Amino acid sequence: MCGIVGYIGNKEKKEFLLNGLKELEYRGYDSAGIAVLKDGKIDSFRALGKLENLKEKTKNFFSDGFGLGIGHTRWATHGKPTEANAHPHSGDFSYIIHNGIIENYKELKDNLIAEGVHFLSQTDSEVIVHLFEKFIKEGFSSKEAFKKTISLLKGAFAILLITKNDKESIYFAKNAVPLIIGKSKDGEIFFSSSDAPLIGHCNEVIYLEDKSFGWANKDRIKLFVNKDKKEPQFVPLTIDKTYAQKDGYRFFMEKEIYEQANVAGETLMGRVCDNEIVLDELNELDLDKINEIKICACGTSYHAALTSAYLFERIGRIKCSVEIASEFRYKEPLLDQKILFIVISQSGETADTLEALKMAKKAGLQTLAICNVDNSSIVRLSDATLLTRAGIEKGVASTKAFATQILTLWMLALFIGQKFRKISKETLNLEIKALLHIPTVLQVKNSLHEKIRRLSKRYLHGHGFFFIGRDIFYPLALEGALKLKEISYLHAEGYPAGEMKHGPIALADSKLFTIALMPKNILYEKIKSNVEELSARDATILAISPLEFDLADDFIKTSMQDHPMSEFFEMMIITQILALEISIRLGNDVDMPRNLAKSVTVE
Ligand code: F6R
Repeated sequence: MCGIVGYIGNKEKKEFLLNGLKELEYRGYDSAGIAVLKDGKIDSFRALGKLENLKEKTKNFFSDGFGLGIGHTRWATHGKPTEANAHPHSGDFSYIIHNGIIENYKELKDNLIAEGVHFLSQTDSEVIVHLFEKFIKEGFSSKEAFKKTISLLKGAFAILLITKNDKESIYFAKNAVPLIIGKSKDGEIFFSSSDAPLIGHCNEVIYLEDKSFGWANKDRIKLFVNKDKKEPQFVPLTIDKTYAQKDGYRFFMEKEIYEQANVAGETLMGRVCDNEIVLDELNELDLDKINEIKICACGTSYHAALTSAYLFERIGRIKCSVEIASEFRYKEPLLDQKILFIVISQSGETADTLEALKMAKKAGLQTLAICNVDNSSIVRLSDATLLTRAGIEKGVASTKAFATQILTLWMLALFIGQKFRKISKETLNLEIKALLHIPTVLQVKNSLHEKIRRLSKRYLHGHGFFFIGRDIFYPLALEGALKLKEISYLHAEGYPAGEMKHGPIALADSKLFTIALMPKNILYEKIKSNVEELSARDATILAISPLEFDLADDFIKTSMQDHPMSEFFEMMIITQILALEISIRLGNDVDMPRNLAKSVTVE
């Protein structure tokens, strides 16, 4: 996800910009750039890949003495990660950096092209600088031109703009994407998309509200909110960097649970268009040659794979099997070249998954990675990759990576159904509608979190947890149990609800906690009778369902959703928060649970 920094003052601008971007590195990016306006001249540098590359490009550039600087790390959304698509974007005399999405960029761009403007990138962001310069050329002042530009933009944005037309000011705008302005005791002005780059440089900040815009120079900040003039309100800046990176959440895992609504939007972006699924990344594959899918993964990624197998067969109408990578490696599998071999990995470095991928390649299969880390070993080795775009995941217990894997796999199942004409237009439309609804479903409600927090105190002991579900809710039960055991160190198992009576029900007594996933859209009556059987044996039951269920000891009511995947994501959030709150009550280090590592690069 993109990062923004800016600076007005006398110090070496390159230094603050590069160090600031370094602080934002954890958000993930694929290119970076800076622009500095000093003595009426703008110098701009952009580089693909790591910040080191930008550092190298700017090593002979110095900029002390009064001036303005802006810097950006880009996580590609519109347009591939290339130097031309990296920010800052320029017109004839101005430069901008932008985070977010300009929803109406296409229409604005078409109008500008019709007026003779030449675009250099494939990004949505570039329209901003050309719009601004168009208004200047029409005779408006920089301030009026900026105001007019912002009023035409629809979507989410944090924008910084510098122009030779005004050598003193940085122009800024913010809507639905964070932007902070800071002030030092020496009168310097700073901008950033999060607290971390500002710590140590300034002591007071303004957290801009949505629909804010304005301009700042070394003497004053002119701020408008909703077009009305507003006096800037500074508040003290926190000085704890890790706290700043956590945006006020207690743990990275908690922050990542809350981020899911946002990153889900990133995952879908550009892939769901005009009632069809567009996955250009698959152009590298010859899908006409495949008639079967095999997926290999470990841990949480394996649970995403299991979930997707239901989707591939039910809506993509293609045969799909799933294997744990460490098992697959040694079973001497029969691999037919009509199989599309998919590996799923958050890190892209998991040793067993990587080895399984090598085996498939050796057997001549077409391979596809579903991965969160671009340029990782798994991405480099696969024939094609669908990046999940979850941003960097810091908590060892995976949350947002899982959510984005499921979304990506769901889109892939639809894409395959669409390609082989196995899915009707009506069903595809309904599925797309449901897909687009998921970012809303993933928004965590305070009341829900508080309810789970209160409930969690009753689940700190007992001799074990069974998470049960059917269909896609069975892999979700596996994932819920994995989350809980990873960070609480309590014993938990996920089980297909229909299997309980074939053995595990022998364990049922009041100290057996059953977390029952009871969606209304899939096999409700079946799971209900499975849970009744457990209740009759006095198991303690926490039912999660939109439908009232009297036999439960505890009940979390979910909303009435029309699509099972909406219920899936809502219940996923509940199991994640339950694990988090139990673990916090037990005093565990949620982000770094004992014995676990974020990336498992050994067998
Ligand atoms: C669980 C978790 C692990 C990983 C597993 C695979 O919360 O994070 O189970 O899912 O180690 O890792 P990746 O997805 O990086 O291949």
